[in-house]
Amino acid sequence: MKQRNAWLFPTIFTLVVIVSAIAHFVSPTLSVAQSIKELTGKDELTMVTSPDYPPYEFYLTKEGERKIIGFDIDIANRIAQELGFKLTIQESDFNGLIPALQAKQADFVMAGMTPTPERRKNVDFSIIYYDAKDTIIAPKGSNLTKPEDLKDKAVDVQLGTIQEQNAKEIAKKVPGMQIKQLNRVPDIIQEIKSGQIAAVIVEDTVATGFVEANPELEFNPIPSEQESGSAIAFPKGSRLVEPFNKVLYRMKGSGEMYALVKKWFWPFALPMASPRVTVTL
Ligand code: ARG
Repeated sequence: MKQRNAWLFPTIFTLVVIVSAIAHFVSPTLSVAQSIKELTGKDELTMVTSPDYPPYEFYLTKEGERKIIGFDIDIANRIAQELGFKLTIQESDFNGLIPALQAKQADFVMAGMTPTPERRKNVDFSIIYYDAKDTIIAPKGSNLTKPEDLKDKAVDVQLGTIQEQNAKEIAKKVPGMQIKQLNRVPDIIQEIKSGQIAAVIVEDTVATGFVEANPELEFNPIPSEQESGSAIAFPKGSRLVEPFNKVLYRMKGSGEMYALVKKWFWPFALPMASPRVTVTL
């Protein structure tokens, strides 16, 4: 009896190891895919974004086809592939993104969104996948390079963004600075190009592309200690945070995230710099 049991345990153990190794190599996404279905009851997840923010997300018209592309979209597709769900993308103004999560109209948001203590009261966030800092965009030679220079000036920001909050903080210390909130970043850029406002506050990651496309403009970083960068937002209590974080960590560790940063943020890699495609904003 004793002797028979002696080989039973190692045999079962070896079998378990072989079966899990096969499962792991043959279909690495299968177990996670099942768990996404188990976690959410769905195999299709809806992401909502604000496609006015190149290179994170924006409309590209190519060969007559108009679609949303960008850094965030590539990451979302990669996560969908890794976790084995079908990705549906919907759009909203930036200001409507958190309400969409609260109303459970979407499973997650990717929109270059910065996790802030205020937002954390209403939604959950993944880890930060890319850093960004605020900048002032102004016409070249206007000498509007630092917050103090915005005295008595009109400044545009995107409604509902941390740039709106930061502009309000600056305005407390800079007399006469007026803030105007618009829904879409390209409209803001249009206003500064047409001279309707003096300056704009947007993130460096986005400012680079706009300034490159509009050489009459320049940008200067605003020094700050605040939390910055982009994270994925989820409805409060979402069970997706952990599996999404696992993929983000994996992408950071494998160099895949770096490759996407190179693809989208290196100035000459920006699609808007390429003469072959038209960017519709
Ligand atoms: N990072 C800033 C924020 O979270 C701006 C993001 C704007 N994103 C966009 N898709 N327009 O407030």
